Amino acid sequence: MSIMSQTTVLDRTPVRDESLAVRLQDVTVRFPTERGVVTALERVSLTIPSGGFLTLLGPSGCGKSTLLRVVSDLIPATSGQVEVLGTTAAAARARRDIGFVFQDASLLAWRTALENVQLPLEVGGRSKRGGARDARELLALVGLTGWENAYPHELSGGMRQRVAIARALINDPKLLLMDEPFGALDEIKRDRLNEELLRVWEETGATILFVTHSIYEAAFLGQQVMLMAARPGRVREIVPVDLPSPRRVALRETPQFIALAAHLRTVLEAC
Ligand SMILES: Nc1ncnc2c1ncn2[C@@H]1O[C@H](COP(=O)(O)OP(=O)(O)OP(=O)(O)O)[C@@H](O)[C@H]1O
Ligand SMILES: [Mg+2]
Repeated sequence: MSIMSQTTVLDRTPVRDESLAVRLQDVTVRFPTERGVVTALERVSLTIPSGGFLTLLGPSGCGKSTLLRVVSDLIPATSGQVEVLGTTAAAARARRDIGFVFQDASLLAWRTALENVQLPLEVGGRSKRGGARDARELLALVGLTGWENAYPHELSGGMRQRVAIARALINDPKLLLMDEPFGALDEIKRDRLNEELLRVWEETGATILFVTHSIYEAAFLGQQVMLMAARPGRVREIVPVDLPSPRRVALRETPQFIALAAHLRTVLEAC
């Protein structure tokens, strides 16, 4: 290496870590209510590497949805730092870098599957990166080829959730936030969608932050599982998940998975 290039390296001013998709530092969220102030999140810190998959597990009311809303700039943090994709949550949202999937699919009944997937392009505009994806391809990605022209009432709950996932991917988001997206489905459908989601994750390279009440779902999907406790909502433990890929549902029968699930249960019971 020449002296010149060495100097260049030494002179480089530190830049923010772009390889982190999400960084929260001591984030606190308080809501003033008639019954007093509710601390939904207290000094929550976490990082998700770019392309990572973090699952959030914790009892009702521990602040999981609040955390997703802070990351997607739907509500501000009362204090602490929020960094999303190397910038502020507001800037990441404005760039259409964030996709959101809610607990119920919330599709528009009068639009076909294809028209629902295309909806964000019409109401919010295209991503600043110009990275809008083809709605038909996305429906194919979630296994719905042939259902493009079906209306929501003609689809099963699982199929509607798949349309919602395709819709969240239309702007090719770098970060996908999912709030109990499969909570209303039976276990068989949920298993199938879990496998499909991992395939979509690998194919798109997106970072995923996924909320669930299910220990098995959290362990099966996550590269890390963040366990939270309630009142006030806080981080209990962040557990790295070192399970082989590609993950298939049969993995749940392995001693490694069973031990991991047992550990998560023990921590949750103490929450
Ligand atoms: N807009 C709001 N105003 C007042 N309190 C709120 C508001 N949003 C959330 N909370 C309170 O903050 C706490 C955390 O709520 P949050 O919805 O984040 O929990 P959660 O972990 O997603 O629960 P669940 O598993 O039931 O969905 C709860 O005590 C809730 O009542
Ligand atoms: Mg919630």
